[in-house]
Amino acid sequence: MPMSAQRPNALVTGGASGIGAATARRLAADGMHVVVADLDEVGAKDVASEFGGDAVQLDVCDADAVREVFGAVGPVDVLVNNAGADRFAFFVHTDERDWDAVLDVNLRGVIACTHAVLPGMLERGRGVIVNVASEAGRVGAIAGAVYSAAKAGVIGFTKAIAREGARQGVRCNAVAPGPIETPLLNGAVADSGAMGARLKQGMIDATAMGRSGLAGEVAGAIAFLASDDATYITGHTVPVSGGLSMW
Ligand SMILES: NC(=O)c1ccc[n+]([C@@H]2O[C@H](COP(=O)([O-])OP(=O)(O)OC[C@H]3O[C@@H](n4cnc5c(N)ncnc54)[C@H](O)[C@@H]3O)[C@@H](O)[C@H]2O)c1
Repeated sequence: MPMSAQRPNALVTGGASGIGAATARRLAADGMHVVVADLDEVGAKDVASEFGGDAVQLDVCDADAVREVFGAVGPVDVLVNNAGADRFAFFVHTDERDWDAVLDVNLRGVIACTHAVLPGMLERGRGVIVNVASEAGRVGAIAGAVYSAAKAGVIGFTKAIAREGARQGVRCNAVAPGPIETPLLNGAVADSGAMGARLKQGMIDATAMGRSGLAGEVAGAIAFLASDDATYITGHTVPVSGGLSMW
């Protein structure tokens, strides 16, 4: 069922930077009222102020805070689970604190935010969730083993939620970006020196297009999945990766 003709309410987690900020801007340009939610409150306010949206400070890893924030925000028609983080580290050089941190933000955060919005969507008989996974979750990323596991988890979670919501008007899809020029990727490169530069170049070489992507290119795919042009699409993961994978 198409979304309501009224202006839909969208919430973008991690909307202060990179792909999330580009998505917030794009959804606002598409006519949605957008709430920018981020750990970085100042950044969220800056982005929201560009288009007259709202901003809220949110740590997606804190399930109590997630419940509280979603309760205060009110009905959400479009949830973009975008908040994520990682750095380059070979698995043998990581420990359980690293695993927890990566799984918390990239997987548990998606689960917590979805748990907060889904009952309302099911009750209203409409809603769209778009999760930002990664090609890492489909093909595996060197120096990102736990991140790859978290993103593969997001892809499986997307399918299950799609099945649970499909007959009650709720769609759930994911995008799987390849290397995208954002502070996340370039911060990981900067932190890892020559190795980071080699890892980034390896990802770029793995794309058919031989280039990295821009945040706006991912936002376009997210906006499509969130729109009424995608009303018969659910449970899918769309690679946005210049042909890094083609399946
Ligand atoms: N950049 C890439 O190459 C790439 C590739 C594949 C997937 N992704 C995914 O895209 C998404 C966005 O990443 P990006 O590249 O735009 O990164 P980014 O660092 O530019 O933006 C991430 C945003 O998430 C916020 N954030 C981090 N932890 C948070 C938390 N606990 N609660 C709320 N907000 C939090 C940060 O403050 C930041 O504003 C992530 O899920 C990332 O894993 C990125």
